Amino acid sequence: MHYTEKLDAIRHYIYNMFSNDSTGHDYYHMERVARMARTIAEQEGANRFIAEAAAWIHDVGDRKLFSDSANEINKLNEFLLTINCTPDQLNQIKAAARDVSFSKGRIPMTQEGKIVQDADRLDAIGAIGIARTFAYGGSKEQLIWDNNSKDNTSVQHFYDKLLKLKDLMNTSSAREIAKERHSFMENYLDQFFHEW
Ligand code: NI
Repeated sequence: MHYTEKLDAIRHYIYNMFSNDSTGHDYYHMERVARMARTIAEQEGANRFIAEAAAWIHDVGDRKLFSDSANEINKLNEFLLTINCTPDQLNQIKAAARDVSFSKGRIPMTQEGKIVQDADRLDAIGAIGIARTFAYGGSKEQLIWDNNSKDNTSVQHFYDKLLKLKDLMNTSSAREIAKERHSFMENYLDQFFHEW
């Protein structure tokens, strides 16, 4: 199979898995991260196929989304082999997707991994990031904001994580895009508390 056919097969697999998600990790999150990873990979001279493939699968088996994480990972490995990814490609894709998550606190080892992490983080900030934050908070029964106990509120999540992301980008391409999204969030929070 050619690269584009493999990516198309991966896209279908991901569509079936995430199309009904309402936690902010829906199919369109994967699509935006895949597109962004491909763009950054082009700009940074990295392997576009590995970066895009890893971006499509980066949330498969995430513990906050899947009850049986190991099983999902095994099924994914089998699937990638059925579409004729070579063992080498499989290893590179897995390596690039493994350390993306913010909660793990890791910087991926490979350049493609750094790019997927950046692409995922760019989707966590800006207008889309704001929408996803409240969707995720609602799915976990969190309050929007609380004057007395701000912990575990959706708005507190901006301070705990989202406003830190612009300084954690691995690539200069992502740092550039993050600037505008970051200042949009700052303006949003000003307006939020003004209205609150
Ligand atoms: Ni993600």
